Amino acid sequence: MNNLVALSLIAAASAFSNDKVAHLPQQPLLNDACPSTSILNGECQPPTYDPTTGNISFRQNSTQTLQQSYESAQKIANFPWSHYPECFANENTTEPYCVFSDQKFASGRGIFIVTTSAMAYEMLKKPAFTDPEALSRINNHDNPPFETHEFPMKGRGLIANKTLHRGDQIFASSALLITNPDAYHLVEEERLKLIHRGVDTLPEATKPLFWALLDHFKGDPVDDRINTNAFEIEINGHTQHAVLPEIAMLNHDCRPNAAYFWDEETLSHYVHATQTIYPGEEITITYINNERSRAKRMANLKMNWGFDCDCSSCSAHPSFYAESDARIQRMEELISHLNNWTPESKATPELAETLISLYEQERLFASLGVPYKHAAETYSSFGDKWNAVKYATLSAELSMLDKGFRDRDVRDMRAMAKDPELSWSWNKRVGHKRFPETCGHHHH
Ligand SMILES: *[C@@H]1O[C@H](CO)[C@@H](O)[C@H](O)[C@H]1NC(C)=O
Ligand SMILES: *[C@@H]1O[C@H](CO)[C@@H](O)[C@H](O)[C@H]1NC(C)=O
Ligand SMILES: *[C@@H]1O[C@H](CO)[C@@H](O)[C@H](O)[C@H]1NC(C)=O
Ligand SMILES: *[C@@H]1O[C@H](CO)[C@@H](O)[C@H](O)[C@H]1NC(C)=O
Repeated sequence: MNNLVALSLIAAASAFSNDKVAHLPQQPLLNDACPSTSILNGECQPPTYDPTTGNISFRQNSTQTLQQSYESAQKIANFPWSHYPECFANENTTEPYCVFSDQKFASGRGIFIVTTSAMAYEMLKKPAFTDPEALSRINNHDNPPFETHEFPMKGRGLIANKTLHRGDQIFASSALLITNPDAYHLVEEERLKLIHRGVDTLPEATKPLFWALLDHFKGDPVDDRINTNAFEIEINGHTQHAVLPEIAMLNHDCRPNAAYFWDEETLSHYVHATQTIYPGEEITITYINNERSRAKRMANLKMNWGFDCDCSSCSAHPSFYAESDARIQRMEELISHLNNWTPESKATPELAETLISLYEQERLFASLGVPYKHAAETYSSFGDKWNAVKYATLSAELSMLDKGFRDRDVRDMRAMAKDPELSWSWNKRVGHKRFPETCGHHHH
């Protein structure tokens, strides 16, 4: 599944109203906001990170000002954050949630993270923080291959000003902020305090990027900007929300010519062309899963993004979009045959080729990694080595652009391209009847 763009207050609110809450300990965790071990220079300073034991504990319900939190952080040797974290907890949180800020992150672009200290210190182990080379292709926004353009009606967008080929990097940028959706267990006022503190700790040069974000809802100015622009991302298997302001400049198209993915190692989004884009063409990504009917796509965009889809596949004449919906439905049918590994399966290489053709007819070029993978597995299952190699290579190339360099499907396809005979699907269907539909006769 692609990183789908997240999702408004509604989604976030429902995330914590579930029964998970019932399993949390019902006792206050902050009995003593300033234990005696935490008095440093006469001030309340909670225990700090101990790199030898790995013990981390921020428990203080801090009332430090921004300046005080900065000074506290500077006093501690090798402290990884530029401000002393402000934390809150209550009977509904298993651990305190804190705001962790690093103004030096990504050569001074900065970042803040609202999460538990355990999660924050997990992130600190990522190459994004540990390897200065890791971000060498990220945040290079000089001389980009596009210009911003103001479109009548739909607003700002990006127009290519040079020819881009499939796989060309359009831009890549690091997260400005990452928030843990479980922080909604906090009292609202305290949660808002953390994100406001976070924005206040961003470097001065970075703050305008945050404030330029659109706010779609009408409420707290920081919370609204985050909720309108946050992406659902994964870090070590945990869902988090991240804001990456540059990607908000790209408009949606149900048949996009570019794709992005979240890279956990660099805490960044990469955006690449998925097909040739000529100067003058708008660069677009998809905000939703497009392998669905027009009605479902439109409803999804309206609900999560508040706009009426007007890309060509939505605004076409009803006769055209009826054809398109029929192709999408046929694609679903073919995929279910190709996913059937029983002896009754109707899967054949011809069926896999038809699936590819349907994706192309639908102009779903950015998603071609999917039918190519089905084709690679299907050819492999009939022992056709070189077609398996061909489609595995194509799938790996395409999937990298929308799933990332380290995605599991990409790794699987690379392995198959190297040696199909070692893949799980090899010869799986040899001996199955190959053309059950054309050999038989219609039932009477
Ligand atoms: C601190 O780390 C040590 C060694 O890993 C462990 O035994 C101890 O329980 C930890 N203390 C806390 C409060 O987590
Ligand atoms: C945390 O601080 C708030 C004020 O910011 C206060 O109302 C609350 O009682 C404190 N909670 C604890 C557990 O100390
Ligand atoms: C494209 O436009 C950008 C400004 O957005 C500019 O920096 C860049 O040099 C332009 N490239 C070309 C090839 O004109
Ligand atoms: C904890 O959760 C319960 C049940 O949802 C709620 O009534 C209570 O107000 C919550 N406490 C805090 C501090 O948010």
